[in-house]
Amino acid sequence: MSVWVYPGSFDPVTLGHMDIIRRASVLCDKLVVAALHNTSKNSRFTLQERTDMLRTCTQGMPNVQVESFGGLLVDFAHQIGAQALIKGVRNGTDFDLELQLAFLNARIGGDLETVFLPTGAQYAWISSTYAREIATLGGDLRALLPSQIIDFVKANINR
Ligand code: PNS
Repeated sequence: MSVWVYPGSFDPVTLGHMDIIRRASVLCDKLVVAALHNTSKNSRFTLQERTDMLRTCTQGMPNVQVESFGGLLVDFAHQIGAQALIKGVRNGTDFDLELQLAFLNARIGGDLETVFLPTGAQYAWISSTYAREIATLGGDLRALLPSQIIDFVKANINR
């Protein structure tokens, strides 16, 4: 059974992330979406909130499972028996960074593969950072975020 891991901060999950989740989930038997628990990286939303938002948005996707992880991604991938990491790529900057991480993860993670998926062109400009900025300033989030989480993000962004 092919198990792939899609890691990220998902602070919050965007339409770009959802595009990758949807497309990756048809390429493997099980897709584990893994939200990073990282005390050194300040997230606007708590780990619980980020995984709750992911679960809400992936309801009805039977082979998608939402988890969280701390420590090394390769260790988490091995623990759950994954064969590959999946990364969405929006542009050359993403690709340069992700290629370095793919080399690194292959070196420290043994036979763990990295699969790159180009983000759907209509989502290539979206980032969680922009979504947080627009939410903070009271703008329209419909082009950036899944509809199910917009009210929650708006209500909790400025707390
Ligand atoms: O959504 P993000 O913040 O771009 O995701 C980054 C992520 C979670 C993929 C990356 O930070 C990661 O893999 N962190 C886990 C720690 C790790 O394995 N580090 C080794 C590479 S430096």
